[in-house]
Amino acid sequence: MERFKEQVAIITGSGQGIGKGIARRLAREGAYVIIAEYNPESANAVAQEIEFEGGRSLAYPIDISDVAAVRQMVVNVVTRFGHIDILVNNAGIVQTKPMMDLSREDWDRIIGVNQRGAFFCLQAVASQMVKQVPEALRKAAETPADIMNLKLEQTIDQESSDLQTSYGKIINLSSVAGRRGRPLATHYAASKSAIISITQSAALALAPYRINVNAICPGIVPTPMWQQIDEERGELFGAKPGEAANAFVNIVPLKRAATAEDIAGAVAFFCSDDADYITGQALNVDGGFEMN
Ligand SMILES: NC(=O)c1ccc[n+]([C@@H]2O[C@H](COP(=O)([O-])OP(=O)(O)OC[C@H]3O[C@@H](n4cnc5c(N)ncnc54)[C@H](O)[C@@H]3O)[C@@H](O)[C@H]2O)c1
Repeated sequence: MERFKEQVAIITGSGQGIGKGIARRLAREGAYVIIAEYNPESANAVAQEIEFEGGRSLAYPIDISDVAAVRQMVVNVVTRFGHIDILVNNAGIVQTKPMMDLSREDWDRIIGVNQRGAFFCLQAVASQMVKQVPEALRKAAETPADIMNLKLEQTIDQESSDLQTSYGKIINLSSVAGRRGRPLATHYAASKSAIISITQSAALALAPYRINVNAICPGIVPTPMWQQIDEERGELFGAKPGEAANAFVNIVPLKRAATAEDIAGAVAFFCSDDADYITGQALNVDGGFEMN
């Protein structure tokens, strides 16, 4: 399958874990994947692995909480490739700490990456995607609302055969923690709830340009992040390694943790033509853990 042939995809935080799985999957399906990752060594390692597997990839070390660096990344990618077709906003950090102990620094660090970083990645890439939309559609989208529908209808009548049903796909990684409060990770849960809200706002803002924005809410995925959660919970409760993780898996209806591939499959679906009529949605990929 080459569903994403000739498409350029930026995947943030793709040096390990879920992001790495997504990058490998999109590359296998033909995309040129940009490994936008904080850790230069892991960014290079993943890019090399993808090339070794026959895919095309570029390591791009970046801290996505740095708004200027994010904007520069978009300029650099467009200078090199000419276009950006997919953004997967995956980079994220976590911290397990009781709510009453959270400091201002804890709060700002988590929100700075998970919420502010993800939003400005979305904004920077979306502004490029808007430039890639045919002029007639862009003009119709930017016409004041009271006459927009009429103008758009006229445009479609004249040029319907030239218009695509989507001009870009943005997928944001939220979490089941975005669906329900987490007293041991209040800042993390708040950032992941915000991702669902940002997804809805961006879907509405970008719908006139036919750019789709959706979110994925993974449950438990055994990655280095999950290892960190298990260790931090172990320290708080005196649990043995693996105990906290197993306790969660036991309450998942499908009775197993997700794999990075489970999440990558859902992301690939949202990136594909099959999802051209889906926008503003948040999909739980969690073995039935949440059902809203
Ligand atoms: N693992 C899970 O169970 C789980 C569940 C729900 C949601 N998620 C979400 O999925 C995403 C990926 O999680 P994961 O488990 O693969 O995490 P991970 O910690 O294993 O990997 C995250 C990657 O993001 C990179 N990163 C962190 N901060 C960055 C920054 N400022 N700029 C660029 N890169 C940065 C890290 O270096 C790392 O390579 C996160 O947004 C996370 O919140 C994970």
